[in-house]
Amino acid sequence: MTKTLIDWTDLLQQAINARNYAYAPYSHYKVGAALLTKSGQVYTGCNIENAGYSSTICAERTAIFKAVSVGELDFVAMAIVTTNAGAPCGVCRQVIREFATDLPILVGDIEGNYQIFTLTELLPHSFGPESLSYDFLNKLS
Ligand code: THU
Repeated sequence: MTKTLIDWTDLLQQAINARNYAYAPYSHYKVGAALLTKSGQVYTGCNIENAGYSSTICAERTAIFKAVSVGELDFVAMAIVTTNAGAPCGVCRQVIREFATDLPILVGDIEGNYQIFTLTELLPHSFGPESLSYDFLNKLS
């Protein structure tokens, strides 16, 4: 089994670069994300806001959906960058949880300061795919 090495400096820089594409005319809070997958590929994302506020998508989910939409479901690490090293929102934590149980997540700012958490730290006692009772669902169908 090969293990994908995590180059945190590169992942952080890619998230900083991705943040430059943030479309945030309403909040002015720009977020960048970079997701490393098992293939070694990095998928970047930024937040994309909308005049209908609830249609906004976070940077993390942009990156995740880009990866999943081309068949990359094995996540290795993620970097998230804001001006104030803000933590990822609950919805994004749950979306990460669908594909990874203990992803290391760098939370940083644009100056390069950061902290690394695991998803379990950010989302303890979580609900995931295996939480569904497939036996029960099978009996219904
Ligand atoms: N935002 C993200 O992109 N990721 C998060 O985890 C938190 C919030 C974005 C959504 C919105 O465009 C702006 O930050 C303010 O909430």
